Amino acid sequence: FTVEDKEAPSVQRAVRVPPGVSVFDSASWNGIAIDSTCGGHGTCHKCKVRVSPVTPVTRHDARTFSAAELEAGWRLACLVRATRDHDVLVPPLVTRPKAATVGVGRQVILRPAVQKRYVELTEPTLEDQRSDLVRLLDAIDDLEPVPDLHMLRRLPKVLREADFKVTAVVVDEALVDVEPGDTTEKRYAIAFDLGTTTVVATLLDLVTGTPVAVASMLNKQQPFGGDVISRISATMLDPSALGRLQQAAHDTLSTLTEQVCREGGVDPLHVYEVALAGNATMTALLLGIDPEPLGVAPFVQTTATPAPVLASEVGLALHPGARMALFPALGAYVGGDIVAGMLATGMDRDKRVRLFIDVGTNCEIVLSDGERILSTAAPAGPAFEGGAIRCGMRAADGAIEVVKLAPDAPVGVELGVIGDVTPMGVCGSGLVDAVAELVKVGLLDASGRYVTDEVAKEIAPGLADRLTYIGQERVFVLHRERPDSDPAESVVLSQRDVRELQFAKAAISTGWTLLMEELGLEHRDIQQVLLAGSFGSYLSAASAVRIGLVPTLPVLRIVAAGNVAGEGAKMALLSVRERAGALALLEEVTYVELSDRSDFNDRFVDLLAFPT
Ligand code: FES
Repeated sequence: FTVEDKEAPSVQRAVRVPPGVSVFDSASWNGIAIDSTCGGHGTCHKCKVRVSPVTPVTRHDARTFSAAELEAGWRLACLVRATRDHDVLVPPLVTRPKAATVGVGRQVILRPAVQKRYVELTEPTLEDQRSDLVRLLDAIDDLEPVPDLHMLRRLPKVLREADFKVTAVVVDEALVDVEPGDTTEKRYAIAFDLGTTTVVATLLDLVTGTPVAVASMLNKQQPFGGDVISRISATMLDPSALGRLQQAAHDTLSTLTEQVCREGGVDPLHVYEVALAGNATMTALLLGIDPEPLGVAPFVQTTATPAPVLASEVGLALHPGARMALFPALGAYVGGDIVAGMLATGMDRDKRVRLFIDVGTNCEIVLSDGERILSTAAPAGPAFEGGAIRCGMRAADGAIEVVKLAPDAPVGVELGVIGDVTPMGVCGSGLVDAVAELVKVGLLDASGRYVTDEVAKEIAPGLADRLTYIGQERVFVLHRERPDSDPAESVVLSQRDVRELQFAKAAISTGWTLLMEELGLEHRDIQQVLLAGSFGSYLSAASAVRIGLVPTLPVLRIVAAGNVAGEGAKMALLSVRERAGALALLEEVTYVELSDRSDFNDRFVDLLAFPT
């Protein structure tokens, strides 16, 4: 993206999104504001961008642009799908939005909890001896806030130095500050997605509802283990670990805060609120709450609705009165990140039958038939993050993320590699693709076993020499330097890797199968599957269907939803109504515990095989 600004030089940003996501959503998810009043629904005709290479012209484009503009690549961003690398020019914003677009096509009317009022007060006299506070509160009597001590300490001096022309800053119901002069245009907040692996921060301008800067980094708790269970175990083994994990979370959020404020050119003192979506363990560790009950049966949280805390209590150097809003959790394994995801995808409002799957080590599943909403969690294990896989790796440069097999072609394997470098391993989406393709060409049978050499030569002559052994183990070579390279030094998919993937996908499909049975639904009844999270969003829909990770449906019904936890956190900052909606979800969603179901094991075993 090349983002133009009327008052500043253009900024260039390279972003990576799942194929098929609109340019409008790609920008919005990455903190780039594109003009819009319809929220990406193709009706306002404001989301003008110039795209190269040029994309097909839609009838809305034809109505919006001249022939010369169309030829130059001008298109409506919400109607262009990113199916390859594009250069996108974003002109400066023209309209001042009253609503913002977030999540999956959700439009939010701007009603942030952070409000500012500029007032010019009459000075006290012997006839008017109202206190400073009453004088100020009388001028903003529609808000009825309760003053913070920090504000009271500043009030007399600021009022007099600013000739009683001041801006009152209210967060929720608290009067957190009084600032000299008119600062109403400086109103910011930060949305955090506190993931077990990756943490993302988005700095939001609450006046316009647009993102100003986005930054992400690995969670600094990584040395304590890659998943929530290992971090909970760390606190059980070593009494000092809880404090250190808490500090690591604070450091992560602080580093990101500094980064987004620096990049956005925003004074941290003008950030008055943060919202945070994290799973139950991440939230507990951030607050210094013992997570042990989350890790052992019967898996209980200390609280589903953590009280708001001051941002300074989690180590953030923002405005001293800045609040932190935390998302409520549905259960020990369906946390605030999923509630935020439900908000961002409108699971509670859409009347369609929809299935939401956040694929990860712990996989959260939500199913709605338009009336009832059920949720559950399935322990998928580390396969999708590259763990327990012989050549597994995270989705970083060198990871194979796309695999296509052509059994008859001379070069029978086509790979998509992150960063376009030499393949070093395979990430979760590459793993799903590879297995799906091997099933498709018949080198893996429905039970997940590699076929014999004889069968391989017959059905896939161009690939048969890649099906070989490392020691006793059967492997398929995805990438090798030369045809005679040692398989042990190549990127391979072993029989054990296939089994790991089968266990992971069977755990997930057992989850949604049981939820579907509960609501009396068949595969064909599902109108939309939302694949969420940093891994789920990059999955190939066709491959996910082929291995049975999602119900058997036309691929157009399966959509990448992106980082919905972060989007939900943005929504909570932009609208107090949406924030209340997140709380209401606790009442509306029924949590289904799978671990005590007598039918879980039977279903799991049935679902290990690939659909035929
Ligand atoms: Fe309104 Fe694209 S966002 S037409």
